[in-house]
Amino acid sequence: MERNDDNWLLRVRNLTKIYGEPSENTLSLTGPMFNSNICPETDSIVACAGIDFDLYPGEVLGIVGESGSGKSTVVKLLYFDMEQTEGTAWLKPYNDGLQNILSESNQKKRYIRNHLMGMVYQNPRDGLNFRFSSGGNIAEKLIMAGNMHVGNIRERASDLLNKTEVPVQRMDDRPSSFSGGMQQRVQISKAIANNPPLLFLDEVTTGLDVSVQARVLDLIRELQQDLGIAMIVVSHDLSVIRMLTDRTMVMKNGRIVESGLTDQILQDPQHEYSQLLVSSLL
Ligand SMILES: Nc1ncnc2c1ncn2[C@@H]1O[C@H](COP(=O)(O)OP(=O)(O)O)[C@@H](O)[C@H]1O
Ligand SMILES: [Mg+2]
Repeated sequence: MERNDDNWLLRVRNLTKIYGEPSENTLSLTGPMFNSNICPETDSIVACAGIDFDLYPGEVLGIVGESGSGKSTVVKLLYFDMEQTEGTAWLKPYNDGLQNILSESNQKKRYIRNHLMGMVYQNPRDGLNFRFSSGGNIAEKLIMAGNMHVGNIRERASDLLNKTEVPVQRMDDRPSSFSGGMQQRVQISKAIANNPPLLFLDEVTTGLDVSVQARVLDLIRELQQDLGIAMIVVSHDLSVIRMLTDRTMVMKNGRIVESGLTDQILQDPQHEYSQLLVSSLL
């Protein structure tokens, strides 16, 4: 799709999350220049601050950075898992992008999440209900998105499991009996069940064996190409970012230190910290 200033899918401005009570100096005393996200005056923690970006339909945006740099906070804020300290976000398919989704009521946030977003967490237990079968997990998401017909739900769940290469005969088994890779594939099925225009993926292959990791990454790439779904891919691992993303933001100590086309960042990283990340990949 042609990209211009108007056809963004998600627009985010000044997204900020601070734990504890900040002082007026907290933001100017934390960040990459101080190599810390902890305010020396108040001990408040700047999980992320001043995050600005636009995501375009069908685009895959990476967020990369070391552990604790604020990557998960950014996607959790946008998925309404926690509340921001400051910031605004607009989603085009919701109210034509005119309403700050972060300031909507909980009921409207649930609607947005159920109809327009999907999330895949690092830990399958965060995204799946382990008391339900794999099919039941997908059904739950379909029902929340307004699908009520049991026959349709079962058919759609088996299609989704097929698509994500989970043996359909295991539809009635609980995820606890699945391998880690298969749990992630069920989580992906559930996350895309409502056909969302936007999918968040947070360290989804971290902790999987390398061969399993490669297959899950292949699957994500195939789904992205088939469905044209826009994604925000969070990873501490640049090889994941290289494989999946078009554009990347590099985070450190709660701030974006560099952003641009993934290929360009990999070839010619500008920020010292990005250079370090890239050299560790070689
Ligand atoms: N509930 C919390 N209370 C205080 N600090 C937190 C909390 N959750 C996360 N943090 C801090 O926020 C920062 C960013 O965390 P996170 O977004 O999880 O980083 P990443 O995903 O990049 O590893 C870290 O310093 C982390 O310790
Ligand atoms: Mg994280």
